[in-house]
Amino acid sequence: MKPPQGEEEDEERLRQRKLEEALEVKSLRRIISAYLNYPEAAEEDVKRYERSFRKLSSSHKALLSHYPLKFQSLRRCISINSFFIINMLQAFEPPLDMSHDVDDCGCSHFEQPPNDMNVCSHESAAASGSCCSKPDEACCGEPSNMMSKPADCLAPNEEVDTEGCLGSDTGSCLAGRENYKMTSECCSNHVSDSNGNVPSSHHDWLDPSLQLRVPMVDVDKVRCIIRNIVRDWAAEGQKERDQCYKPILEELNSLFPDRSNESPPTCLVPGAGLGRLALEISCLGFVSQGNEFSYYMMICSSFILNQTETAGEWTIYPWIHSNCNSLSDSDQLRPVSIPDIHPASAGITEGFSMCGGDFVEVYSDPSQVGVWDAVVTCFFIDTAHNIVEYIEIISRILKDGGVWINLGPLLYHFADVYGQEDEMSIELSLEDVKRVALNYGFEVEKESTIETTYTTNPRAMMQNRYFPAFWTMRKKSVEKHST
Ligand SMILES: C[S@@+](CC[C@H](N)C(=O)[O-])C[C@H]1O[C@@H](n2cnc3c(N)ncnc32)[C@H](O)[C@@H]1O
Repeated sequence: MKPPQGEEEDEERLRQRKLEEALEVKSLRRIISAYLNYPEAAEEDVKRYERSFRKLSSSHKALLSHYPLKFQSLRRCISINSFFIINMLQAFEPPLDMSHDVDDCGCSHFEQPPNDMNVCSHESAAASGSCCSKPDEACCGEPSNMMSKPADCLAPNEEVDTEGCLGSDTGSCLAGRENYKMTSECCSNHVSDSNGNVPSSHHDWLDPSLQLRVPMVDVDKVRCIIRNIVRDWAAEGQKERDQCYKPILEELNSLFPDRSNESPPTCLVPGAGLGRLALEISCLGFVSQGNEFSYYMMICSSFILNQTETAGEWTIYPWIHSNCNSLSDSDQLRPVSIPDIHPASAGITEGFSMCGGDFVEVYSDPSQVGVWDAVVTCFFIDTAHNIVEYIEIISRILKDGGVWINLGPLLYHFADVYGQEDEMSIELSLEDVKRVALNYGFEVEKESTIETTYTTNPRAMMQNRYFPAFWTMRKKSVEKHST
């Protein structure tokens, strides 16, 4: 007998949900595998350098007799980077049931790449040692499989977190996360700290048998994340932060001079990356929420925000992956201490949260209408398939009289994505962006151009410069807008 129609619909919805969840588990596994593949991929690079070295004539080799030592040093640096990565993964609490068997869900189209084309697309290929043909082009030019599930808020630890998603019922929030003690076997080769200590894991999903072999572009994203760590969480990134984040913070400070603890203004930071800007905004006394859809980013920001215990707790070697444009080996092999501050002691104020999910999906929810006093976008609006939709949503979620502060270029992430014919990409000029914003009730209050880099090695011989637009727009109050 056929089930009644209502039951059929329920079954179909359930099936659909399971399928989506399975796809997301698959996508997350692939991202975790990319992190776990990092040491091996980096070792392959060193082997390649060694092979080239061996091809030299004896007299040429003699001129570079320090090279074997450099290769050893590179291996030590890779091992220390890997130690950081494995600790970060072990601290990660997947918001999904990772035991979900992706091959049991009856779907045959699993080979979608994960949701992370955008994580490093403002880096130059040459700078990241990565995959583009033109020096200024967005790298990681791979289609994106948007994380279609509802948002999960990865909130900082108990001292710094309150309840997460500011009344959005679109997402579920993981507040007050546990600290992890490592208990069992380690899952990756080449991973130890500078003293040779190897971390251990009790996460089944870190089991080597579940690891996928991922394409190099995925591992490149891990390298991008390492560079992003410098931008957000190292003293070396201070110059970039001063160029990008400081003008935004100063603008917020002057636009909301009378902030009170009882009723602080609310500020959303879509595309929050590794969370530093959202944290700084919280420290200014705003109820600050970062939104981010990349698990690459969220795994890392969650670790730094929630798990670090002191400033300078970790050492990484962000610049080892490119031999190009180095002034010296010691520049290339220099260590970077992270984080430059201890996030939990930085002065975060109540209501700080990181909300995982696609900006369009999460903030299109009716509960988000007119919620925010400020929306801050930094190197974000060009991540859109449809920038008009981004602007529409920003306008809708702002209160009347609320402000949109933007700083960033228009390096559209889905422009020139070859071989993906159906990949939508609306690529407006700045002039048209402003025209569209006007249509959604925005008035430009301030506008300028700033000069900056993005995740650039400050000691490299090549440093790509951006001249991004920096503006403050105010959403006209309803009365004004309708006249
Ligand atoms: C170029 S990065 C900028 C990160 C950070 N704002 C900064 O200035 O360092 C853009 C970020 O937006 C995120 N992103 C892209 N599309 C998104 C979307 N639809 N929803 C949420 N985050 C998104 C990417 O994962 C990436 O972390």
